[in-house]
Amino acid sequence: MSDADPVVQAVWPFDIGIVGTGIVGAHQITREAEEVIRHCKRTFVIDSGYGTAEYLKSLCPEVVQLGTLYEPGRNRLLTYHKMAAEVVSAALVDAPVCLATYGHPWVYCYPTTLITRAAPLLDLHVEVFPGLSSFDTLLVDLGIDIAFDGVQMYEATDLVMRRRPIQVDVTCIIWQPTIFADPTYPTEPHTADQFKPLQDYLLRFYPAEHQATLVMTKTFPLARSVVQHLRMGNLASELESAPPVGTLYIPALTERPIEDTELMETMVMSGTATAAAL
Ligand SMILES: C[S@@+](CC[C@H](N)C(=O)[O-])C[C@H]1O[C@@H](n2cnc3c(N)ncnc32)[C@H](O)[C@@H]1O
Repeated sequence: MSDADPVVQAVWPFDIGIVGTGIVGAHQITREAEEVIRHCKRTFVIDSGYGTAEYLKSLCPEVVQLGTLYEPGRNRLLTYHKMAAEVVSAALVDAPVCLATYGHPWVYCYPTTLITRAAPLLDLHVEVFPGLSSFDTLLVDLGIDIAFDGVQMYEATDLVMRRRPIQVDVTCIIWQPTIFADPTYPTEPHTADQFKPLQDYLLRFYPAEHQATLVMTKTFPLARSVVQHLRMGNLASELESAPPVGTLYIPALTERPIEDTELMETMVMSGTATAAAL
């Protein structure tokens, strides 16, 4: 492809490149992300993973940690505003710049939303490039394929606040359970009382003995992920003693029966099992 190719032109050049750094230190940074970082004059990092910032310094002349903007006990939203403002201001002065953020930049990473909304008003062009998310690493830690029951995903506080319905025949992933109902950057661990409304809400759908799993994927290459099985009825007390970052995996409770038997017969005749496309 040449630079005249419309696809290439849509991506390069950009004023702000946003990349994901993956979950395990510098080990999951893609070649594409590296290329973006090399192209930029300055890279802002939101990733405290072991060796990540040091590795980025080998790709870019100036690397600035934005994690220092978190203020213990204060609302995280203010911090995200400041992070986005730093990146946009730098792009106005000396583009292109990069934001390299933990995991995938479109997975629970509010600075990406703020920057992509603000940039067009300032005549700045933004491109976002994917990274490995903790959802990807969770599948590896659990050794599951989402094809069988499908998957539904909710943010813990949003789930309870909106009383979102849960389909119990579909795998359920709950993000940010360890900071349920806490908008701050916490300094102290929470007690079980903090998590009780989340547990009570989930018990509307699942029996107390239903087994779920809290996954804390390793962020250091030589470490092991923590995969902690629990009873739904003990969720609050398990979260009290859990590490500060983790995701809750709830397997399907029931299997939805097949309703379109005609389609099923076609699939069987053509030799294809259910989870139709497997
Ligand atoms: C602010 S979001 C950032 C997600 C990140 N952008 C990604 O792509 O994974 C933080 C939430 O992601 C999940 N998460 C992040 N790191 C994790 C890890 N190492 N193990 C398990 N879950 C993790 C948790 O649900 C956590 O509360």
